[in-house]
Amino acid sequence: MKKLTYKFSNSSVDYWLAGGISHLKKITDQKNSIIITDENVFTAHTKRFKGWNCIVLKPGEEFKIQPTVDTIIEQLIKMEADRKTTLVGVGGGVITDLTGYVASVYMRGISFGFIPTTLLAMVDASIGGKNGIDVGVYKNMVGIIRQPKFILHDMIFLNTLPQAEWENGFAEIIKHACIKDAAMFRELEANSYKKYQARKTLVCELVKHNAIIKTKVVQQDEFEKGERRLLNFGHTLGHALENQYEISHGQAVAIGMTYASVISQKIIGFKEPGRVAGLLLKYDLPTFADFDKKKVFNVLKMDKKRERKDINFVLLEKIGKGVVKSIPLTQLENIIQEL
Ligand SMILES: NC(=O)c1ccc[n+]([C@@H]2O[C@H](COP(=O)([O-])OP(=O)(O)OC[C@H]3O[C@@H](n4cnc5c(N)ncnc54)[C@H](O)[C@@H]3O)[C@@H](O)[C@H]2O)c1
Ligand SMILES: [Zn+2]
Repeated sequence: MKKLTYKFSNSSVDYWLAGGISHLKKITDQKNSIIITDENVFTAHTKRFKGWNCIVLKPGEEFKIQPTVDTIIEQLIKMEADRKTTLVGVGGGVITDLTGYVASVYMRGISFGFIPTTLLAMVDASIGGKNGIDVGVYKNMVGIIRQPKFILHDMIFLNTLPQAEWENGFAEIIKHACIKDAAMFRELEANSYKKYQARKTLVCELVKHNAIIKTKVVQQDEFEKGERRLLNFGHTLGHALENQYEISHGQAVAIGMTYASVISQKIIGFKEPGRVAGLLLKYDLPTFADFDKKKVFNVLKMDKKRERKDINFVLLEKIGKGVVKSIPLTQLENIIQEL
């Protein structure tokens, strides 16, 4: 099993990207570890948890809140977890966020690792050290940046992943291709869900590649002063849409990327918005959508009110090259109104 080690400002993280959960024992001491997972993952993969201490939570974003943190902490105390205990989050982004957050505050911080089980968590949520919870309508309002000790992948979990979750993951993968990797963009154009789902090695390579893309962006800018902002491509408008309409994160980001591509054409002469939309459609993601532009723009503006008159918006110079531009809100509003 091959290990890659990535250094961040205060720590380094071991990545076992073609590992398998059966290797967890070699990475962390079973007696001193506690797995945190959710009911969906636990039910679908019960036998893989045999021999491990587990805390099994209710699934869903609505549980990524302080009361769940309290419940976990009470269970940790009952289980006599101490400073030598390692928490292992096995699940999607909700579980990795909760695990990283609890591990960072329990006894002023204990070590933790992740086995992400959704595509989105493999290529995005488990990477970069942001761990947090929601407060009311405010997503990820409370949290910290602290890196896990390790990340271990096991593609076997993808066998039970619902199709809607493949779409959420591919939205972020397409995002990475747009901002950083023209060759991967072409690979995605040439493939399909069918091909990736039929060939484990193909999806394994894609996941590894994307985990590393995000890692390198974060390494350059762990505390989000510049480069890391590129990862917000499609997310500014996406978050505003997600907040107003009942759509998934992947769908919202897909629509956000479509509009950001057209805005890129208008502001910096990006030539291929049609190719971005084409790729999203290929992976069953929405592109142009009918939405109440005024309402959505108002949310977008509120969301970023701290930045006063301008907004940092991620544009594409070309496929594979994202750039962050400060755009006056009035200009952005005019463009969105016209589209
Ligand atoms: N920390 C970060 O940098 C970061 C980045 C992106 C997203 N996030 C967070 O991640 C969360 C979204 O993550 P997500 O999309 O993985 O959602 P999720 O954790 O809610 O998982 C999606 C659904 O799939 C189920 N599931 C997970 N793995 C499964 C498997 N292998 N088989 C069957 N079902 C499975 C879950 O129980 C859940 O119902 C959000 O809370 C978001 O804020 C964090
Ligand atoms: Zn996202």
